[in-house]
Amino acid sequence: MSLPLSGKVAIVTGSSRSIGASIATKLASQGANVVINYVSGASAAQGVADEINAKGVGKAITVQADVSTVADNKRLVEETLRQLGRLDIVVLNAGVMDMKSPADVTEADFDRHYNTNVKGPFFLAQAAAPHLTAGGRVVFFSSSLASASAVTPNYMLYVSTKGAVEQISRTLAKELGARNITVNTIAPGPIDTDMFRMNKTEQQINFFAGLHPPKRLGKPEEVANVVAFLAGPEASWVNGQTLRVNGGFVV
Ligand SMILES: NC(=O)c1ccc[n+]([C@@H]2O[C@H](COP(=O)([O-])OP(=O)(O)OC[C@H]3O[C@@H](n4cnc5c(N)ncnc54)[C@H](OP(=O)(O)O)[C@@H]3O)[C@@H](O)[C@H]2O)c1
Repeated sequence: MSLPLSGKVAIVTGSSRSIGASIATKLASQGANVVINYVSGASAAQGVADEINAKGVGKAITVQADVSTVADNKRLVEETLRQLGRLDIVVLNAGVMDMKSPADVTEADFDRHYNTNVKGPFFLAQAAAPHLTAGGRVVFFSSSLASASAVTPNYMLYVSTKGAVEQISRTLAKELGARNITVNTIAPGPIDTDMFRMNKTEQQINFFAGLHPPKRLGKPEEVANVVAFLAGPEASWVNGQTLRVNGGFVV
């Protein structure tokens, strides 16, 4: 049976767990061969790959690469081409978020956020671009908070990186669009993952859940389904867009 992503190869950064793991699993279920990337979670990454390979649809390999560095992004592309032979889809999902008052943000905090959330995705897209086939797909990751009017100051560093990503994506779409490659951004609202739960009390988690009309958090699979749509042939005319995948999250 031919699946929508049969024969395609996808890199999903930060796919050892949470949203990235769901994306890799979904893309593989649609026939893609996928690269499970991680920075330190080797056994979690292997677990995601083993589950995908056990299903016998798309194949998965794992590649350790710190995608906050230009050198590792280049190596990630080279390793993908060496092991899987081509590159069609790049999902720039890996990200970090610390919540700190602007007064407490250090240079190291600033560099970690910008290196992981902005510099890394840009340079991975740059390294991947020459190899992407016509009909290729690049998907960046922002956050619904980047356009929310009520954001508390402790999100300043994180949301500023996501604002930058949206601008990079919008303009790259014009450049790569000329080669029939689409570039879009997914901006999730609160999704129930390690990142979302980190340093939050149960009361704070319930508060965020209550900001959605259905009164619950989003699930990683609900983001992965939209990435799969963007990665597939039916999204060929969706380019340069930011899709807010947030259940109607209101802030
Ligand atoms: N969860 C939400 O509510 C939410 C809302 C809006 C936007 N987002 C965005 O969605 C994306 C995924 O978020 P998440 O909640 O799934 O995050 P998460 O639970 O913190 O998972 C992060 C993933 O990224 C990997 N990673 C982190 N730094 C990396 C690096 N330097 N190099 C390679 N991999 C790295 C981690 O790998 P290891 O296992 O090796 O550490 C892990 O697989 C992020 O861009 C985030 O900003 C999330």
